[in-house]
Amino acid sequence: MLKKGDLYYPTKEFQKRAIISDPKIYQKALKDPIKFWEKLAKELFWFEKWKKAFEHQPPYFKWFLGGKINITTNIFEENKLGWKKIKNKPAIIWEPEPTGESSKILTYEELFKQVCKFANTLKSLGVKKGDTVGIYLPMIPEAIISMLACARIGAVHTVVFSAFSSQALKIRLQITEAKILITADGYYRRGKIINLKESADEAIKDTKVEKVIVVKRAGNQIPFDESRDFWYHQLIEKESDFCEAEKMDSEDLFFVLFTSGTTGVPKGCMHVCGGYTVQVYWTGKWIFDMHENDILWCTSDLGWITGHSYTCYSPLLNGITTLIFEGAPDWPTPDRWAQIIEKHKVTIFYTAPTAIRMFVKYGEEVIKNYKFETLRLLGSVGEPIDESTWLWYFKNVGKERCPIVDTWWQTETGGILITSLPGIGPFKPAHAGLPFPGIKIDILDEKGNSCKVGEKGNLVILPPFSPGMLRGTYKNPEKYKETYWSQYGDKIYFTSDGAFKDENGLIRIVGRVDDVIKVAGHRICTGELEAAVNLHEEITESAVVGVPDEIKGEVPMVFVVYKGKKRGEEVKNEVINLIRKQIGPIALPKEVYLVEDLPKTRSGKIMRRILKRLFTGEELGDLSTLANPESVENIKKVIGK
Ligand code: WT7
Repeated sequence: MLKKGDLYYPTKEFQKRAIISDPKIYQKALKDPIKFWEKLAKELFWFEKWKKAFEHQPPYFKWFLGGKINITTNIFEENKLGWKKIKNKPAIIWEPEPTGESSKILTYEELFKQVCKFANTLKSLGVKKGDTVGIYLPMIPEAIISMLACARIGAVHTVVFSAFSSQALKIRLQITEAKILITADGYYRRGKIINLKESADEAIKDTKVEKVIVVKRAGNQIPFDESRDFWYHQLIEKESDFCEAEKMDSEDLFFVLFTSGTTGVPKGCMHVCGGYTVQVYWTGKWIFDMHENDILWCTSDLGWITGHSYTCYSPLLNGITTLIFEGAPDWPTPDRWAQIIEKHKVTIFYTAPTAIRMFVKYGEEVIKNYKFETLRLLGSVGEPIDESTWLWYFKNVGKERCPIVDTWWQTETGGILITSLPGIGPFKPAHAGLPFPGIKIDILDEKGNSCKVGEKGNLVILPPFSPGMLRGTYKNPEKYKETYWSQYGDKIYFTSDGAFKDENGLIRIVGRVDDVIKVAGHRICTGELEAAVNLHEEITESAVVGVPDEIKGEVPMVFVVYKGKKRGEEVKNEVINLIRKQIGPIALPKEVYLVEDLPKTRSGKIMRRILKRLFTGEELGDLSTLANPESVENIKKVIGK
């Protein structure tokens, strides 16, 4: 039995079949990372080859300059496995939430036709190369079809997670100035129908959206404005099932995906056509060891980068089958996820620690009758996975047979950058592993010196970075410079993660060093929450901190300074509703505390660190430097500590 601190290597059998099993790949790649990526890029289909592989004008960089490519051509006509071979194979398996409803399969050929029909539809509605299209859809095949249709014609997609509030959608539509929004009538969540169209209608007020395309999913009653709204199924009916792919420049904008920002204004990460395609194709192939007959279930919603890269693009580029599931993994029974793995013969399962911790909580009893014989590889993403959760996953899901790839990356990096490769290993509980071949990573102290083994520092990425990394933050270049390129200068990308290396060079991610908290794997800025709370007219100040939680990893605790006359409960509900309205249910706090005052330095800075330590049990440190040390005693009373 594997224990904490042990190293695990793939079985001989796994190694023999693995796409990458020779550790020499690391030295080879690092000798000349640019050449290495060029060699990988050459294996894809380009309408025109690039003229220059890499260009660095700090803090900006480009890859494969002058190359012409389209990701959908690489998925369909020119798929590396050969069109004949994949044509009749399932590209998408869709599992709806209601157990009484049958799952749906789309073969590559069917998917291609649907994508073309919808691409032509978008064109008919006036969408051109470079236009932005908003996508606000549940986990249904049309979400993937919409993304690919945009990619086909060179429209820039901005996918917004369907559980985000209308306010959160609105701000994203405003920033991107999208003229078209693709949404659905509704979808199922824990047995209930969520009316998505209502949120969409609310969101598009005060935006440039002129047309709304509505997919009929749940058949629920929705508001429908004939002058602006169109049914998806009616639109595609009259369109041809072939659409020529737009020849995209390697550095043309491919998509914008927003991630939470400090002040309540989200940051739009800009990803480009060439580099992203190369990186997601190869990282997927090597890290998930994608073989022809694999069925991958990446549980991430398409609204996150994990969904973009490893639910949609990477498996399809590799010609394998991707499974998408509409509902919650523990609905209607706690073993729903296990049923799905067995029903659809999933071979690769990629999920988040928060989901695994939930499975742990339900207990082994729930899955004791599942053998998971088809599984051969497991993955984890989104937040640090602690040793005991790792070991539980390894034993109860992987049956001590499947390697676990603990993959570190970010919305910004586009694809996975740190993880052990499954055919090489070693896998060590709670450690992500080595940087992907060709990726230069370091861990630096505050002064910029490399940290020694075991010494905690800041994780950074060094030139030439990676082809799939962001090229900027949409309409906000200052944010780009300030967030990533100011800590250690404009040639070193600052990840905002703390990490250390063990004696084997395996990297362990400790967690964010900025004001981002990971709530059930979702990235939320405490500042963003504070901005939402501060909209309350009677709240003069607020502070949000993340505190450890058994299932969600971290949860927000909200402190508000309230001096009005309402009852405490009423104010708390108002705060919760503000967060729900501004962001969505993923950001809901565990608790809202009404306090007299917040601890501050003499210069007026709120000491969030102290608030956090009240929950973690750490030493509070020297309080005498505070302008108002008595505030801490008062807060202790309020929270009952
Ligand atoms: C942040 C990025 C990566 C796609 C999904 C999340 C944390 C991510 C790991 C991991 C420890 C991880 C980091 C990172 N994170 N993967 N394997 N181990 N922490 O993307 O929402 O942009 O969040 O997630 O803190 O900076 P994201």
